[in-house]
Amino acid sequence: MADIPPASDAFAPPRLGEPYLLTPGPLTTAWEVKEAMLKDWGSWDADFRAMTAELRRGLLALIGDDRGEYDCVPMQGSGSYCVEAMLGSFVPRDGKVLVLANGAYGLRASATLKYLNRAQVLIDKGDYLPPRGAEVAAALDADPKITHVLAIHCETSSGILNPVGEIAEATLSRGRKLLIDSMSAFGAVPLEVRDIPWEAMVSSANKCIEGVPGFGFVIAKKSALEAAKGNSHSLSLDVHAQWAAMEKTGQWRFTPPTHVVAAFLQALRMHAAEGGVAARGARYARNRDVMVAGMRELGFETLLDDRWLSPIIVTFFCPADPKFVFPDFYDRMKAKGFIIYPGKLTVVDSFRVGCIGRMDEHVMRRVVQAAREALTEMGVTSAAPPSEALAERQKLVA
Ligand SMILES: Cc1ncc(COP(=O)(O)O)c(C=O)c1O
Repeated sequence: MADIPPASDAFAPPRLGEPYLLTPGPLTTAWEVKEAMLKDWGSWDADFRAMTAELRRGLLALIGDDRGEYDCVPMQGSGSYCVEAMLGSFVPRDGKVLVLANGAYGLRASATLKYLNRAQVLIDKGDYLPPRGAEVAAALDADPKITHVLAIHCETSSGILNPVGEIAEATLSRGRKLLIDSMSAFGAVPLEVRDIPWEAMVSSANKCIEGVPGFGFVIAKKSALEAAKGNSHSLSLDVHAQWAAMEKTGQWRFTPPTHVVAAFLQALRMHAAEGGVAARGARYARNRDVMVAGMRELGFETLLDDRWLSPIIVTFFCPADPKFVFPDFYDRMKAKGFIIYPGKLTVVDSFRVGCIGRMDEHVMRRVVQAAREALTEMGVTSAAPPSEALAERQKLVA
């Protein structure tokens, strides 16, 4: 790899020698974030309460809430716990949700609603085709009982950035409420309430803010938090109860992941120092552009046209060459210092490469070089995908 410049100091390789995680969270974190976990904190103590308050303020600062209409409620658990908490708390028991699915996470939200016994209508666009504003409008016009729309911001299973602007327009102009799963996008892709006055959204610690796993957070209109009282089916996933307790005592209701919160605060400070959402998004977009250009030079093809590519994660088709065997490619990439991600498409074979985490374009150039070497070692002469893959891609002509 002599011709590839090393990562700049700020994005030096993980100090303990583990591979970079080119995955959409958990992801590669800064040394300072890991170091912040070395202290123990008393969960009831004033110092930790101040940390919780800083965390909530820091997240609210990212949504452009000039009028102070929103509040932030951290919840223990992974992202799915927060999606479940949001749905169970904000959708009344007699509410009805229009779920927009184009991948695994939309379908998981639909499955969650089944557990919660909430009525729903599902628009399932398959592996990746985006739900469009006109479809949302038609579904809402056809069913006045629908109270909420659930949209996935970046559908991480394909990497598509869904058109939340047009979905919001169709939803809000019809007087319905918008819930957003922005798990993998929040902090790098703008989601300001000045642009889209959504009802509530969720994300988690180990995504674009670059913290470690252990909690997620719901940001919601205060009016929605107030109205959520009594809706939840679950004690521990009741967002209203968590919010009310935090407002009253400054504490989490049950044992908080103290070290994870300390790490997250460090990650939030580094997010601000980098320049906030715009700068974080620009770094990830550059990561994506450098990586995609390099992979295309090797002959790989992306599932999505540039217009739909998120700066979060990119799906590539597996090459048609029979010498390309994904587990072998994976192991070789890992041995060269990069953990990639299997694909989730059901129709054709694919894999994914993430662009988020503590890494920059120099790292991405090394990823491409590693892929080049892995192909050579495997004896793969062309990374071109099979014709079925290209036919599949034709479905998304927009
Ligand atoms: C869009 C989206 N929603 C939900 C989840 C689920 O989060 P978790 O795996 O932390 O439960 C993920 C995870 O990557 C995601 O990307």
